[in-house]
Amino acid sequence: MVKETILTGIRVNGELTLGNYLGALLPMVRLTNKYSAYAKANVFVPDLHAIITDIDGSLKANLLKSIKYYLAAGLVITPNVSIYRQSYIPAHSELTWILNCFANMGEVSRMIQYKEKGDGKDSANVGIFDYPILMAADILLYDAVYVPVGKDQFQHLELTRNLAERFNHRIGRDVFTLPVATAEQAKFMGVKDGICIRDLQNPEKKMSKSTAAENSKIMLSDAPEAAAKKIMSATTDNVSKVQFDMFNQPGISNLLQILAFIRNQPLSEVAAGWAGVTQYGEFKTAVAEEVKGFLIDFQARVAEISDEEVLSALENGEKKASKVAETKLYEVQRAVGLR
Ligand code: TRP
Repeated sequence: MVKETILTGIRVNGELTLGNYLGALLPMVRLTNKYSAYAKANVFVPDLHAIITDIDGSLKANLLKSIKYYLAAGLVITPNVSIYRQSYIPAHSELTWILNCFANMGEVSRMIQYKEKGDGKDSANVGIFDYPILMAADILLYDAVYVPVGKDQFQHLELTRNLAERFNHRIGRDVFTLPVATAEQAKFMGVKDGICIRDLQNPEKKMSKSTAAENSKIMLSDAPEAAAKKIMSATTDNVSKVQFDMFNQPGISNLLQILAFIRNQPLSEVAAGWAGVTQYGEFKTAVAEEVKGFLIDFQARVAEISDEEVLSALENGEKKASKVAETKLYEVQRAVGLR
């Protein structure tokens, strides 16, 4: 049984799709709940990371909403769980500076996220470049070993390991705990290729909140009735079989996935229940009803959580996390001769 610290970053998102919810948020919440019974779990909002791109005054409200979504998805805050905002714990920024002095331009320049967003542009802000070092600080301050993230963040995790190893080597002792390698992280998360909910109109593509077509995506804030209509108008095929076959029937397979994940039932079981059905109308109605029911419940749960409740959980978590972070920072400061 895992005893090491688990650390999860909650991205501040304005709005989430049903795909983000079922594919990323819910698995993260389930994983955290499962392990926080035995291990320490840090759940935090990287708000300093958020200002790299979005400075429009919406951060505070979006941050509260993101946390409410996690709580409504079932995240349980126990004494083992600390929930906090990165910017409320100055040790994150301070450790970033120290780690900057151990990182080299070459390795950081090679990070894909930087290459895609900032490389070669004179106007790119330095924050985009330094992003992975701040992320390393987020992890190393708490001796976190399991850091469930999407594949797009694996490179940053490997950089974190390299920095920690280099630091320990130069100092001559293990100041930092290394998070496990990405292959092992993937195993810990228990996902092979992740769950991918598709675009309702173009099921070959992933459901994305940036898609202009409203009918293509379901947002967590959609009116439940409207969301049901979107399911009814989802693209299917003319095979006349309700079965899971992502290659030949991506639309029907996507709807089966949505049904299975909302019900938290194995896909094979859900698919077996529809075997032999040749009319899509009946099947789509069932999925539409399920999505509608889910949204009604979920939105009611979100509405029940007050801002005050979230803020008090954060303040509590920040007290606990600060202690751990400050102790580690002091050790690092001593190691490099600042103290
Ligand atoms: N970069 C992560 C993302 O985009 C968010 C994040 C910041 C994070 N710091 C982290 C995730 C530390 C895990 C650990 O999803």
